[in-house]
Amino acid sequence: MMNGPLASFLTDANFKSVLYIVAFSLFIYGLSGLTGPKTAVRGNRIAAIGMSIAVVATLLVDPFHNPVLIIIGSLIGVGVGVPAARKVKMTAMPQMVALFNGVGGGAVALIAWAEFRTSGGFDVTPTYIVVFSLFSAIVGSVSFWGSNIAFGKLQELISGAPITLKALQLPVQALVGLVAIGSAVAIATGSTSEGLMVLLLISAGVFGVLLVLPIGGADMPVVISLLNAFTGLAAAAAGVSLDNQALIVAGMIVGASGTILTQQMAIAMNRTIVSVIAGGFGGGGGDAPAGAAGAGGGTVRSTSASDVAIQMAYARLVVIVPGYGMAVSQAQHAVKEMANLLESKGVEVKYAIHPVAGRMPGHMNVLLAEADVPYEQLKEMDDINGEFKRTDVSLVIGANDVTNPDARNKADSPIYGMPILNVDESQSTIVLKRSMSSGYAGIDNPLFVDPKTSMLFGDAKASVEAITEELKAL
Ligand code: TAP
Repeated sequence: MMNGPLASFLTDANFKSVLYIVAFSLFIYGLSGLTGPKTAVRGNRIAAIGMSIAVVATLLVDPFHNPVLIIIGSLIGVGVGVPAARKVKMTAMPQMVALFNGVGGGAVALIAWAEFRTSGGFDVTPTYIVVFSLFSAIVGSVSFWGSNIAFGKLQELISGAPITLKALQLPVQALVGLVAIGSAVAIATGSTSEGLMVLLLISAGVFGVLLVLPIGGADMPVVISLLNAFTGLAAAAAGVSLDNQALIVAGMIVGASGTILTQQMAIAMNRTIVSVIAGGFGGGGGDAPAGAAGAGGGTVRSTSASDVAIQMAYARLVVIVPGYGMAVSQAQHAVKEMANLLESKGVEVKYAIHPVAGRMPGHMNVLLAEADVPYEQLKEMDDINGEFKRTDVSLVIGANDVTNPDARNKADSPIYGMPILNVDESQSTIVLKRSMSSGYAGIDNPLFVDPKTSMLFGDAKASVEAITEELKAL
């Protein structure tokens, strides 16, 4: 509908290709920035500029095709997405990612459905295009519904514990999977029934629900990363069907990076992706009460903020071990202030970062970076583990599973084999948490009853602030 030389230049297919190549370069350059906290924000912005260019390039080809719908859709997306992303707390980031990822999968499934309708039941397209469209419909629907269940679990709208149909779980899952694939085969071989297409989308959705319900809360970030990879692959398949290079490239980037991230998380938890999908591990925080008898019936030594302050003030090396509880209580700024005081007293302070501490990759790095902790003080697990033997005080702040020596010593422990921070090797350990409750894996931690360990019970932020006040008074 555009006229004139400018219009024909803007709507030229070659011009679109050039814009796409610029966008892809920005995606990849932006992604490389995400490898470190210092460059992550810039990387994100660069990739966002790339995505904006890709969107504009796509719309330019037929700029006046349904402009009202495009504007309404864009406004709704921006209106919902921007405030939600701005307001979300760091601790709620995994469920936000789940929701955004689910929306991507849902969009891909809807595109396949729309294509089905406009092409008269995939009647005119070559078979391989139909196969890609059907693949994107199935995987997109699995991803949408699976991601919504993941969101519900993390948001505690549904139980974080594994939910299964018991003996019926596998047969029912196999049945809905077969219905989805059977419908796809029927459509690919000539059926133009829209009812079959809807059945395909519904059965794939039920499959996604049944896939995620049995998985425990602890494994949810791994599942979200896996579903994210699914969404990427579905989008890439949709790109093939629509002959859209931007969707293919962006989808493959998401698919590949999601797969690598899933694999890395599984390795850090010493699990296989198959065992994660099989489910049944970790159902949310435990609820054992605080008391004198701790894990395995050992004796718990409770301490006070003033004793902790004295112990640390006379230490040479203090290693801070943050975990999920630090994120929950938002103690990072208080921790930084306490560390500053210790350093002013000549104490060396380091931070031990476990790759799966918290609830999402890089959780501790992000929080501590937000509190301006120098990046050089953050030590990866492999770098710090050799130093615990010469550490005077390990200060464990709301961490549990990632310090559990059973992962090293107890062959029948559910986390046996998971690499941990060897906090128990330090001269003394102080653990800040509210009670003797278990962490996400739902198991006891013998570190808490180790004779070298003292527990400072309370909210992590309040405890750190109390220690800081005592340090000031010394
Ligand atoms: P957890 O083992 O989950 O332990 C966190 C501890 O923080 C709890 O025992 C809890 O004890 C304490 N806590 C909660 N709120 C607190 C508050 N306000 N103040 C003080 N303490 C508080 O955490 P972790 O050691 O960081 O380990 C992470 C776990 O999540 C691992 O099992 C890991 O496999 C799993 N996971 C992580 C990821 C990623 S990517 N990070 C992904 C999937 C699974 P109280 O209730 O007694 O206070």
